[in-house]
Amino acid sequence: MQFIIGNWKMNGTRKEKDTMTATISRKKTSARVILCLPFTLLSGENHGVLIGAQDISEHDNGAYTGDISGKMIAETGAKYVIVGHSERRSNHDETNKMIKTKAENAIKNKLIPIICIGETLAEHKSGATKAVITKMMKETLPISGKFIVAYEPRWAIGTGLTPTPEQTAQIINMIYEYLKKHNHGTTPIVYGGSINATNAKSFISIPHINGLLIGGASLKTKTFLPIIDSIS
Ligand code: PGA
Repeated sequence: MQFIIGNWKMNGTRKEKDTMTATISRKKTSARVILCLPFTLLSGENHGVLIGAQDISEHDNGAYTGDISGKMIAETGAKYVIVGHSERRSNHDETNKMIKTKAENAIKNKLIPIICIGETLAEHKSGATKAVITKMMKETLPISGKFIVAYEPRWAIGTGLTPTPEQTAQIINMIYEYLKKHNHGTTPIVYGGSINATNAKSFISIPHINGLLIGGASLKTKTFLPIIDSIS
């Protein structure tokens, strides 16, 4: 089964969510479509579409102004949560240690974390990708529980740039081997970064890829539906 995960980031109104979820619900697809929405849009009518959050607090409750706990997210009906997105790492200084705690917190609250890993452009250019990815996996992945790994090269997010399918295949294979070695051989691996209707198919056909994480192109039905179609 392939996952098609939309990440709306800080975009979207309730009306836009309603249009998108109603449209997806009418679509015949073998893909598991998940929409990761801003906290304010998590609750309410989903038309049966799976919903996820984009962040989770490291803590259970208490004096953490502005944070949202796993229990609160679960109470909205959301089933997934993105953790360690590149924009959280850059804009909020999230570290691997924090990301691991967030992933474990999600699992504790019966949410499935979508754990993002990826190298910067400088790391990519210097050939450090494999080392960086391995370190991130070592330091962020939970020992047990269900999760999804999202390989998102940080330089590919929102830039229109992507690694070649060959480069991607190498990294995905390395991630797959790592997971298998650590008793997570059935963990889904998705690719994210500048996916659109034109390139979706070439990424989805890479061995061991189980789906795509899509930012910009997930915001409008006109750009998102053709990506879902590329799976069916
Ligand atoms: P993008 O974003 O598809 O707009 O590059 C991907 C992401 O941030 O997950």
